[in-house]
Amino acid sequence: MTRHLLTGAELTADELAGLLDRAAELEADRHASEALAGRSVALVFEKPSTRTRVSFEVGVSELGGTPVVLRGDELQLSRGESPRDTARVLSRYVAMIGIRTGDHGPVEELAAHGDVPVINMLTRDHHPCQALADLLTLRERFGDLDGLRLAYVGDGNNVAVSLMVLGAKAGVDVVVACPAELAPPEAAVELARAGATGRGAATVTDDPRAAAAGAHALYTDVWVSMGDDPSVAAGRRAALGGYRLDEELLAAARDDAIALHCLPAHPGEEISEGVLYGPRSAVWDQAENRLHAQKALMELLISGA
Ligand code: CP
Ligand code: NVA
Repeated sequence: MTRHLLTGAELTADELAGLLDRAAELEADRHASEALAGRSVALVFEKPSTRTRVSFEVGVSELGGTPVVLRGDELQLSRGESPRDTARVLSRYVAMIGIRTGDHGPVEELAAHGDVPVINMLTRDHHPCQALADLLTLRERFGDLDGLRLAYVGDGNNVAVSLMVLGAKAGVDVVVACPAELAPPEAAVELARAGATGRGAATVTDDPRAAAAGAHALYTDVWVSMGDDPSVAAGRRAALGGYRLDEELLAAARDDAIALHCLPAHPGEEISEGVLYGPRSAVWDQAENRLHAQKALMELLISGA
């Protein structure tokens, strides 16, 4: 059966653990796998990207494959061709499809109608590839993921949702601290809880200090996402001023806690410059880990295709 990664819920806890083990192996030897030799992968970007674009393109190449990077406006999708027809056609050329877009529905439609694995490279609702890299980063720093506590502070967005879904599955106690009006959708919290294993959990609070207490990692993301109307910016600044990842919040976490951010960051807004560039920041390893985690993901998906 064709496998996809749309939310992260598709992976079993064992598959997730195996994927992270494999990612660590591929980090140690970047050319250890030829899983995509002779195959091509379509990478569709309807939104801007630095990390996802480059890490997927390099990752496909390092697995022996050929990346075919497509901007949304280069495809007939932008002129109304359906995701359904696009999926059927691309399946005749390529071995896998990655897509970054706004609405989540078209990604599900691609997966439903193509014959090849589809990878969600970010929608307004989910960013599972980011969470895979985040878990790899936690694993590198702390070893066993089961029982770790991760506090996400800020907007309850796609990144927060994917951390809950994949973190809880890996046994991580994920706490999202945000104002009630910016909380992740209840259905996403339920999805995370339904897949939780071990000491994994997904909770939402409006108290950033309570969330940070005892945390192994503090995480934040931008206050205005690509899927948001830019007019929300002023309101977000007002609502999220108390949810910054700064030195004071870091002091409330464990002494060995690390700071995470999926990037791009706005130093001085959601994260202080001192934390972003300071000794407890793991964000650059986190960005690198996109490459290793996604290579392990592509290897897994192609093995079942
Ligand atoms: N973190 C992340 O997805 O970065 P890009 O938007 O640069 O791909
Ligand atoms: N929440 C951000 C993540 C960017 C990688 C966005 O969707 O724009």
